[in-house]
Amino acid sequence: MTSIKIAPSILSADFASLGDEVRAIEAAGCDYVHIDVMDGHFVPNLTFGPPVISAIRKVTDLPFDVHLMINPSQPYLEDYAKAGADIITVHAEADVHLDRSLQVIRGLGKKAGVSLNPSTHPSVIEYVLDSVDIILVMTVNPGFGGQSFIESQLEKIRTIRSMIGDRAIELEVDGGVNTKTIAATVEAGADVLVAGSAVFSGGDYATSISALRSAIK
Ligand code: DX5
Ligand code: ZN
Repeated sequence: MTSIKIAPSILSADFASLGDEVRAIEAAGCDYVHIDVMDGHFVPNLTFGPPVISAIRKVTDLPFDVHLMINPSQPYLEDYAKAGADIITVHAEADVHLDRSLQVIRGLGKKAGVSLNPSTHPSVIEYVLDSVDIILVMTVNPGFGGQSFIESQLEKIRTIRSMIGDRAIELEVDGGVNTKTIAATVEAGADVLVAGSAVFSGGDYATSISALRSAIK
């Protein structure tokens, strides 16, 4: 089995202690820090932007996996690169020129990601497969943590895994991932799992992360 990465979403962290929360998930053994940027327009919720990302950049060297749920995203890509993102993921639904956004992200020296809402067909990424480093399949409608996993997305994960073929592209899944849903998600082909409430709602983050990893086996 390829190695599976766990990316806790700080959307479910205690914002009053964000630096300490990031230190705590690093100590608990996570692989990426998943950062949900929402604009109150593309999704019905508002979170944070580059200044908050720059602030937490100082507390860890873990890769920052920045999930942009903003429309437009293209004018802001450089700001997120400068703030310390390592992966910048845009939604296929957010900008008209997806291929250009991906080229801009790579041009900034960052890994380029594309995310698909649950209702979006995987064919929208068919012609950008050579321009992406990570594909993010949403298994909830983006906007909030703590929603239920949408089972119909398992088939989409399988389809995208086969579209990827032998390319070095990570397949990330976000939304409703917990100890009950993670095994089927990995079986379908995911190798990076975002988990918000599953990590932050339990008291001990190391226990929650190892429970996720053991639920896969
Ligand atoms: C939803 C976000 C997710 C969310 C996941 O729009 O993109 O990253 O925080 O939260 P859980 O794991 O609680 O579904
Ligand atoms: Zn996310």
